[in-house]
Amino acid sequence: MNETLERTNHTPSPVQPITDPVQSASVKARMQELIGRLADQHSLTEEEYAYLIDHRDAESASSLAKQADRVRRSIYGNKVFTRGLIEISSICRNDCLYCGIRCSNKNAERYRLDPEVILACAKEGHELGFRTIVLQGGEDPFYTDEMLSGLIRSIKEAFPDTAVTLSLGERGRESFQRLFDAGADRYLLRHETADPVHYAKLHPKEMSWQHRMDCLQDLREIGYQVGAGFMVGSPYQTSRELARDLKWTETFRPDMVGIGPFIPHHDTPFAHEPAGTLELTVYLLSILRLIWPPVLLPATTALGTIHPRGREMGIQAGANVIMPNLSPVGVRKKYELYDGKICTGEESAQCRGCLQQRMESIGYEIVTERGDIIK
Ligand code: 5AD
Ligand code: FES
Repeated sequence: MNETLERTNHTPSPVQPITDPVQSASVKARMQELIGRLADQHSLTEEEYAYLIDHRDAESASSLAKQADRVRRSIYGNKVFTRGLIEISSICRNDCLYCGIRCSNKNAERYRLDPEVILACAKEGHELGFRTIVLQGGEDPFYTDEMLSGLIRSIKEAFPDTAVTLSLGERGRESFQRLFDAGADRYLLRHETADPVHYAKLHPKEMSWQHRMDCLQDLREIGYQVGAGFMVGSPYQTSRELARDLKWTETFRPDMVGIGPFIPHHDTPFAHEPAGTLELTVYLLSILRLIWPPVLLPATTALGTIHPRGREMGIQAGANVIMPNLSPVGVRKKYELYDGKICTGEESAQCRGCLQQRMESIGYEIVTERGDIIK
């Protein structure tokens, strides 16, 4: 296991008020009412979501986690689905301010995996019991539709029981269509923030919030299972932006929602910004489970990076997916979106074994299934 990893000193962000743990009786009553209504009706107003965030305390966190775990068990039992993550390229044409592999980071080590290497990783993943393979990478023009279609076809041909998920950033609708026609099942594209003003503070002016939203809509219309998501504690984020993310999720109902704490990377403009917290990330996981009960919700690597038991805590709060790393060990350190990323030294088999033990230690079971959403 990996409990002794080097960690940077992540201090909680001032934009994430951790409230006085002792709330007044009227606040407690209002919180219980909101949690009850959320669990029953799966919907609150944006103001109410902000209230839930601003007035959280240990009691509301535990009550949300309990409800979320109950709801998750009623649909998925104690199953935890796995996705084998292959980080195919650290080359990216974008310059997102938070990201360690942004194009203007001249210190980032760049690599790209050839299709044969990716196929070999997928084979190893299949032998280890993964029935979803995720191809993730920067927006790297090297991977043309033609090359990716060939790769997707080879994977689906070799492993017809395995879902192929793409996480390759924004592409055109035609491109999404071609990759879908080649056999891709799912696409992960985090919306990053549902607030266009906040989006503009995290991205260079060449990037457009509207285009990101259009991509998500296109992906859905084409027939992909769609994943969205956002960082918790990203710079300039307040409970208002988070409440917007929650309301947006309630409306769009993505099949998957990936959330993890923002963690600064030393070679980015946000190097000295505070990290998001474990506590708020886990709290939001519970809320997301109650908003959209069937959602596939990963306990992310970023969550495991800010706390040695972060992923276990995420699962206990309502998450039901983990995404171990299947990339060749030689490139893992180069796919460095943030500082201190865990699991960069492990072989794929070790990583899966480690997670299996971790999940069993808290009473959950890692299964060998595709893990599609049960609506
Ligand atoms: N901290 C946490 N998450 C990050 N991501 C990118 N950079 C960071 C960071 N510094 C997330 C983004 C992106 C996903 C692949 O990783 O949300 O969509
Ligand atoms: Fe534990 Fe990767 S080594 S999950």
